Amino acid sequence: MTAKARLVVLISGNGSNLQALIDACENQYLHAKIEAVIANQASAYGLKRAERYQIPTLVFYPHGSRAEYDSDLADFGAIFKPDWIILAGWMRLLSMNFLRRYSNRVINLHPALPGQFPGTHAIERAFAAYQRDEITETGIMVHLVPDEGVDNGPVLATQTIPILATDTLETLSERVHAAEHQLLVETIRQLIK
Ligand code: GRF
Repeated sequence: MTAKARLVVLISGNGSNLQALIDACENQYLHAKIEAVIANQASAYGLKRAERYQIPTLVFYPHGSRAEYDSDLADFGAIFKPDWIILAGWMRLLSMNFLRRYSNRVINLHPALPGQFPGTHAIERAFAAYQRDEITETGIMVHLVPDEGVDNGPVLATQTIPILATDTLETLSERVHAAEHQLLVETIRQLIK
């Protein structure tokens, strides 16, 4: 049996995708171990999720310039010898000071299809576009993060999600998030097998 893949997960908020990863590691669907969860703010609820499973957590508070912060974050992350860095709702743009240290090993999850609605509030913007009759479906993607492009990079997996006439922003958001939890786990499973 090969060694478990070593994951470091970066979060900024709720951490429901982190929870999906924790569950998949716990039930051994993923042959992986979450070595650390790093947040950029103490209010990130995902930290509590990780603590429940005795996963090491750290709040890496904003400090210095972006370049300094990213170098320090890369140094800190390296302690855990990650095979993969997963950005699961990490709300800071990472510069090359971080990314060049983990070439082809940083994975991001975004609640929109490639090229659509990069940046924050992607689901809200997709729903607004639907209401203006500009789109009929949205989606999600998991991609590598090679550079500072926002929610852009080699696509590992996508899933389209139809927008229903009965949808509210809340119901659409629920379906998007449920799909994300599955797609993130499936994509990592494919990568590490
Ligand atoms: C997800 O929608 C993800 O695509 C985006 O941020 C959200 C994080 O949700 N990048 P959670 O913190 O995992 O619940």
